[in-house]
Amino acid sequence: MSYAIVGFGKIGQALAHDFARKNINVTVTSRRPPEVLAPQARAVGPTVAAKSLRDALEADTIILAVPFGEHREVAKALPSWKGKTVIDAMNSFPLPPEELDGLPSSAFIAKSFTGAKVVKGFNHLGAATLASDPVVEGGHRVIFLSSDDEDAIAPVADLAKRLGFAPVTLGKLNEGGLLVHARGRVWGPLIFQDLFKKHQ
Ligand SMILES: NC(=O)c1ccc[n+]([C@@H]2O[C@H](COP(=O)([O-])OP(=O)(O)OC[C@H]3O[C@@H](n4cnc5c(N)ncnc54)[C@H](OP(=O)(O)O)[C@@H]3O)[C@@H](O)[C@H]2O)c1
Repeated sequence: MSYAIVGFGKIGQALAHDFARKNINVTVTSRRPPEVLAPQARAVGPTVAAKSLRDALEADTIILAVPFGEHREVAKALPSWKGKTVIDAMNSFPLPPEELDGLPSSAFIAKSFTGAKVVKGFNHLGAATLASDPVVEGGHRVIFLSSDDEDAIAPVADLAKRLGFAPVTLGKLNEGGLLVHARGRVWGPLIFQDLFKKHQ
């Protein structure tokens, strides 16, 4: 498997630290040219390499760590996303749920990444926590994964384990996945209400 992180801000850099800690190769990219990102990437670790967006998207697994509104710009960079796994580490707030066509945010972005398998994950931890060693007092920090493509979760769970996390699979995006989908400015309360209504 080959990996790329699109977005090299707080979350992109946090994830890059996780890859570097385990000596796993990863490409990082942003709107800045690779020669500008390169010193910052090298400073994270020798397995972190800066590339242009187009070159980074040659990876088979791509982690989205850009502001939610930018996902369409990233999607446009490839004519087809067939064969790619997209890990959505973004949160859609403060966008109101009405602007997501009533879909969980990862299902909404999946419409732009035609042909890709989209897995929601690595989105519930703050950047500083995500960057720190996930092995804490002998335990492994949890990462929640959900997807409408059941086959896509296992390889991402494997990556999470290689990075030192304990993956927890929540099922489909609009089922267990809703637990870690931001809605407007909130997470928990509204989501539990929705799940409760669904199962009444
Ligand atoms: N911060 C957190 O603690 C946290 C926690 C969980 C989830 N998230 C989610 O993670 C995502 C990123 O948040 P962040 O805090 O890391 O944001 P950030 O620090 O502002 O970084 C955003 C990065 O995305 C890049 N970018 C923006 N538009 C792009 C485009 N069209 N193509 C390629 N790269 C682009 C920026 O590139 P340039 O550097 O070139 O401008 C920057 O490197 C958001 O969706 C957020 O909801 C954040």
